[in-house]
Amino acid sequence: MAELLSKTDKRNKYCGEFTSADIGQRACVMGWVQRQRDLGKLIFIDLRDRTGIIQLAFDSETEKEIFDKAFGIRAEYVLCAKGVVRARGEGAVNKDRATGEVEIFVDELKILSVSQTPPFEIVENSNVKTELRLKHRYLDLRRPDMMNNILMRSKIAKIVRDYYAENGFIEIETPNLIKPTPEGARDYLVPSRVHPGKFYALPQSPQLYKQILMLSGFDRYVQLARCYRDEDLRADRQPEFTQIDLEMSFVTAEDVMAINEGFLKRVFKDFLGKDIETPIQRMTYAEAMERFGSDKPDLRFGFELKNISDLVKDCSFKVFAGAIENGGSVRAINVKGGGARFSRKEVDSLGEFVKTYRAKGLAWAKNTDGEISSSYAKFLTPEENDAIYKALDFEKGDLICIVADKDNIVFDSLGALRCEVAKRMGLCDPMDFKLLWVTEFPLFEYDEEEGRYYSKHHPFTSPMDEDLPLMDTDPSKVRGKAYDIVINGMEAGGGSIRIHNPEIQWKMFDVLGLTKEEAEEKFGFLLEAFKYGTPPHGGLAFGFDRLVTLLLGLEDIRNVIAFPKVQNAMELMTECPNIPEAKALEELKIKVDTEE
Ligand code: AMO
Ligand code: AMP
Repeated sequence: MAELLSKTDKRNKYCGEFTSADIGQRACVMGWVQRQRDLGKLIFIDLRDRTGIIQLAFDSETEKEIFDKAFGIRAEYVLCAKGVVRARGEGAVNKDRATGEVEIFVDELKILSVSQTPPFEIVENSNVKTELRLKHRYLDLRRPDMMNNILMRSKIAKIVRDYYAENGFIEIETPNLIKPTPEGARDYLVPSRVHPGKFYALPQSPQLYKQILMLSGFDRYVQLARCYRDEDLRADRQPEFTQIDLEMSFVTAEDVMAINEGFLKRVFKDFLGKDIETPIQRMTYAEAMERFGSDKPDLRFGFELKNISDLVKDCSFKVFAGAIENGGSVRAINVKGGGARFSRKEVDSLGEFVKTYRAKGLAWAKNTDGEISSSYAKFLTPEENDAIYKALDFEKGDLICIVADKDNIVFDSLGALRCEVAKRMGLCDPMDFKLLWVTEFPLFEYDEEEGRYYSKHHPFTSPMDEDLPLMDTDPSKVRGKAYDIVINGMEAGGGSIRIHNPEIQWKMFDVLGLTKEEAEEKFGFLLEAFKYGTPPHGGLAFGFDRLVTLLLGLEDIRNVIAFPKVQNAMELMTECPNIPEAKALEELKIKVDTEE
């Protein structure tokens, strides 16, 4: 049934490109059938390609053989159609379609391919289940919105390459088969056939290579780099993803931020026609936590955290006083307008919400049109209650939400709650962009269970000069020369100035609990390289998938990745991961020890 293309079958326009200017011209189009309508003496076929849809027309003037062929055509057949472009009749103009004023009156038609009835219709914004969409991703990608996402991703990638090239960056590819990293619990491992029992790792980022490139003297490096991390998936996380990865020599943090602000300005202007203000607002990590309970605050709405510990430290309500006694705090947000907006039942659901962030409960006070109800007011004196209302500027229609606990739980739960209520109140317009640099991140994180420090960013991030002495006395207080770019509450990128002084690098490994031998074994090549003249350097990596998602006003990064993985890290179309052939395992000297 499939007909072949001949030498003379040459497409001269994409389907979506026809306008009245083409009337009278001969056209040759190729594409997929969106829909065939048979009106007896008339047949219309909507033909689709990546640019849009053109209507093909067949009527009593059409040769019988062609008319009969058109009669049998179904959705998703692939056609080559030739004919003359003509104006549609008066009432037949389709104003919703770019090509709606014209149609092609077909006089040559080939069916290049037939199609079974697809498992879902190829239309925009369909409600098809994610699993089904991903299983038939080739069809899902035909949907105009998905097709557009991928086309836009390519357009943004071009802006990336242009901008950095214009600013003297060299594109260099770094390897994908690399040495497994220490602390590399999240490494994907690849067995070596030549060295049985040995493994490569897939890079979590090109970090070490890009630093080495600075040592070599490339000065400015950029790469759209594939990164692999075996971590739990979320809406903004994939096991393989793409970074706009870059590094610069002879720079301070200011220089790195300035270059990347230039990029953001460019991409927002070129892609969205939006002017973003530069310099982009800055906030230290400490301030971000204190005011927003998060190191990636969403600045599209208020509801800032207030520490009310001082107001309730002597109260007789155990929940509050007890948390403070245990070294924690009591903090609150005033959800302006939330008292009028949320029913009692919804407020209870907010209580359940904070519990998912380990809070033991939510104390609330609700002002519905002047009438105050509260879950905790009865445990406090009128003076204590008034002091809280005053501190939070509690007015008609407001809702106060309080969490008392250890600081990290209070920050986590209230930080998430302020975003949750904003979402429920419709305050998160995806096209209202609020950009922010978060700076002065702590260099280390202390793991209570393991009783040791971890790098918050990575072990090559430079401490702030003024905090150097604390490396010996109180590492938890050391801040790093690190910066994250946050857009609408999403960490869109992050980077740092690196350590280029070997002594400090050794000290870093020391705090992380690495012995000299371990450090040599793991990072020997880097430490060796550092002996031969290291320029001061620093850089940053944007999450490219996240940036594209944000620029398109979407939420789920899977919608901008052609073949993403689902929650359990499977790719549903090809069904991977999969069990390799016994022979392959044998050759790799690998024995699989699992029940499955
Ligand atoms: P970091 O680990 O912060 O830094 O990663 C940089 C950016 O990459 C994005 N990102 C992800 N996107 C999708 N799925 C994931 N699983 C995922 N993980 C991270 C985020 C993040 O901000 N080498 C350093 C950068 C540097 O210091 O220059 C690094 O990888 O948007
Ligand atoms: P209870 O005395 O348990 O009835 O608690 C009174 C109110 O305090 C309820 O609204 C609880 O949800 C709330 N609550 C309980 N634990 C906490 C906590 N750690 N922080 C804030 N509120 C809490």
